[in-house]
Amino acid sequence: MQDKKPIITTRNLVKKFNNKVVLRGIDADIYENEKVAVIGPSGSGKSTFLRCLNLLEIPTAGKISFGDEIIFESDYYAQKDKLSALKAQKRSYKSGESDAEVQSLLSELTELSSNKKALKKELKALKTHARLLRQTSAREGAKKDADETAEKIVAVKNSLAELCLKISSEKAQVKQRKQTVRSSLDQSVVADLDAKISAQRAVTAKSAATHRKFIRNLEKNIDAHRRTTGMVFQHFNLFNNLTVIDNITLAPVKAGLIQTKKLRRTLKRAAKAGDENAKTQLVNLPHKLEIVENARKQAYALLDRVGLKDKADVYPSTLSGGQKQRIAIVRALAMNPDVMLFDEPTSALDPEMVGEVLQVIKQLADEGMTMVIVTHEMGFAREVATRVLFIDEGEIKEDAPPAELFGNPKNERLKEFLSKVL
Ligand SMILES: Nc1ncnc2c1ncn2[C@@H]1O[C@H](COP(=O)(O)OP(=O)(O)OP(=O)(O)O)[C@@H](O)[C@H]1O
Ligand SMILES: [Mg+2]
Repeated sequence: MQDKKPIITTRNLVKKFNNKVVLRGIDADIYENEKVAVIGPSGSGKSTFLRCLNLLEIPTAGKISFGDEIIFESDYYAQKDKLSALKAQKRSYKSGESDAEVQSLLSELTELSSNKKALKKELKALKTHARLLRQTSAREGAKKDADETAEKIVAVKNSLAELCLKISSEKAQVKQRKQTVRSSLDQSVVADLDAKISAQRAVTAKSAATHRKFIRNLEKNIDAHRRTTGMVFQHFNLFNNLTVIDNITLAPVKAGLIQTKKLRRTLKRAAKAGDENAKTQLVNLPHKLEIVENARKQAYALLDRVGLKDKADVYPSTLSGGQKQRIAIVRALAMNPDVMLFDEPTSALDPEMVGEVLQVIKQLADEGMTMVIVTHEMGFAREVATRVLFIDEGEIKEDAPPAELFGNPKNERLKEFLSKVL
């Protein structure tokens, strides 16, 4: 594998949704002809990883390359975090909060507050108990219980009052200590932090500019990038208002038209400048009908391969789940991708249809298609995959050939996972 170049590379790939980190720095290389199975618990980030590879999700940080081309690279969020940390440090220093004595007073205060909370809870429970006793005064021993409860209530109230006093005195101490600290701040520490902040601000701004540039570029070229990868989803995602053949040819026709338009523009410019070769090429550019016809021809050939040629003109709603998924695979293949990405392609299917879909995927694998497949079908992963990645909590915890990963798992979480699914 070492002498080959990876088709897709990710380095330290991070994806956050709001503040939730879903991918925590994924390093992966997908080489030509590899069949990589991705397994892991629900919610571990498998789909998000696949969606980042297909750019359905824009990563938060890290690097993605397709071959030699860097598609995305950014450390913007890390730099931003560094800047925030420095600012917080300065704030804390200037307010006196970073002073050791203030810190210790504050942690005492936290403890006192939690004691207060516990006492309040106890008081509430005692009061409820007392109320219940008043309602059931006939019970034997109720009087004694009521007296004891009343006593307890008084005791807890006293403790609470004492605690409140202590808290306000501690608060006053904190305030006073902070004032003392603030009046004798070491200005050289502040200046040093200011210098660090200003340097970090420049680094962050530069990183933000690079980040924006990558996102702009990504958005501009996203269709071209996505063509590298064909994606198949759990729930097929076919367009129900289009016939099977239209579902399959929609993207290739669009791509063909865009490509021809671009080429025409370039050739026209060259022809205008007197390039005879460009003039000939311009005349021979395919017309729209030709593009459509070629896409349809290819679609029929692909449909034939998955045994569904007779379904070309029907609507998806008339198909079984297994048939729909085979169509979805054909649709992805119609873009001639370098890599196929499958996200649990069989988990929405009735059991009797799983086989026909796995069969198609296996056939593709045998023909040498590079693929990454998120799957719960461990038997299939073991049989077809050349490598298995175990993802857990947004990290690749184990990466090994199937015989090794299933036969001799090393990671504890993987062992636990396999004991549940095998
Ligand atoms: N668009 C989104 N917005 C917010 N959170 C999301 C989004 N997509 C995914 N997540 C969260 O990210 C985490 C990982 O989700 P992901 O779908 O990648 O898991 P998974 O490993 O594919 O799980 P499963 O096996 O159930 O399909 C989950 O906690 C999910 O709720
Ligand atoms: Mg998923």
